[in-house]
Amino acid sequence: MTAIPQISPERLPELLQRMPKAELHIHIEGSLEPELIFELARRNAVSIPYSSVEELRKAYAFSNLQSFLDIYYAGASVLLQEQDFYDMAWAYLKRAQADNVLRAEIFFDPQTHTARGVAMETVVKGLHRACQDARGQLGVDAELILCFLRHLSEAEAFETLEQALPFRDKFIGVGLDSSEVGHPPEKFARVFAKCRQQGLHLVAHAGEEGPPAYVWAALDVLKVERIDHGVQSAKDPALMQRLAQQRIPLTVCPLSNLKLCVFPKLADHNLRQLLDAGLCATVNSDDPAYFGGYMNQNFSETFGALGLEARHAWQLAANSFEASFVDAATRRGYMDRLGAAFEQFA
Ligand code: ADE
Ligand code: ZN
Repeated sequence: MTAIPQISPERLPELLQRMPKAELHIHIEGSLEPELIFELARRNAVSIPYSSVEELRKAYAFSNLQSFLDIYYAGASVLLQEQDFYDMAWAYLKRAQADNVLRAEIFFDPQTHTARGVAMETVVKGLHRACQDARGQLGVDAELILCFLRHLSEAEAFETLEQALPFRDKFIGVGLDSSEVGHPPEKFARVFAKCRQQGLHLVAHAGEEGPPAYVWAALDVLKVERIDHGVQSAKDPALMQRLAQQRIPLTVCPLSNLKLCVFPKLADHNLRQLLDAGLCATVNSDDPAYFGGYMNQNFSETFGALGLEARHAWQLAANSFEASFVDAATRRGYMDRLGAAFEQFA
C-alpha cells in the first residue's frame, strides 16, 4: 500500500480490532486463565494454595518480574497430561483469532514441566496438536518457540535441548526467558550456537529489566534475530542506531511492562519513541492471563495512553509481519490482507 488512508480518530478502536496482525511474544503458560487453572487442578487432583478464582486473581499484583514469575510457575503446576497442554493452547488460539491474529509464534517453557516429571513429549505433542488444529479450524498460523529458563544452568539448557531434538520438526526456534538480571545472555552462548547449527530461529528476552549490554550480547554473542522486550535499549543511542539500521525487531509488550512496573504509567511507555527512531517495534501480550489483556487490549490501551494514530497501527501490524518467521509469499499475503483492512476504513 502506498498511502495510509485518512481514518478518523473515532474509528481507531474498530480499526485496531479488525486489523490483521501477528503475535510474536506470547508465553503459552502465561495464557492460562485462573478458571482453567482451577479446572485442571481438579481434573489432575493437584492442590493449589488458593481457594477460589477470585482469590487467585487478587494475587496478581506484581512489583517486578520476579514477583510475577513466582506465581506464574506455581500456576503452571496444574499441567500434567498432553490434553492439558492442548486445552491451554487451544484457549489462547481462539482468543488470538478473535483479535484477528493471523500468525502466532508461541513460547513454551519445557523446563517448568520436565522438572515436575512431565515428559518433553507430552508438552510438545499437546501444544503442537493445538497449533495444527488452529491452522485448519481457526485460520491462525501457529508455531512454537522453545524457551530456556535463564535462571537455570547451561548444562540444564543443553539437557533440555537433547530432550527436545527428537521433536525438532514441531518447533521453529528457541528463546531465552525467566529472571533476567544476573543471568546475562553470555551464559547460553554455547547452547545457542548448537541451536543455530540445527537451523533453529533464535530470539531472546533482553532489556526488559536488564541493561542495554544484555541486548548487545543477545545480538553479538547469541546471534538472535529478534529481541523480546528490548525497551531498555532506549538508554543507549548507539544501540538504538544499530537496531534501526539493521531492522532488528523488538517484540514489545506494553501491558506487561506496566504490570511489572518497568514504566510507572502506560503514558510513560517508550513505544512511540521506538517507532519514531525507525525501529521495527511490535505490540504483543506476553502473559495475557496475568497482565490484563490479549493483543487488542494491548493495542487499544496503548494507543489511548500514547495518543497513537492510524499510521502507527499500520506500522505496528506491518512490523509484526516483517518480524515473523514466515516465507516471503506468506508475508506478502498477510500484507495484502492488512492493506485490504485499511482500505475498508478509507
Ligand atoms: N516468562 C514469562 N513471561 C516473562 C517475561 N515477561 N520475562 C521473562 N520471562 C518470562
Ligand atoms: Zn516474555
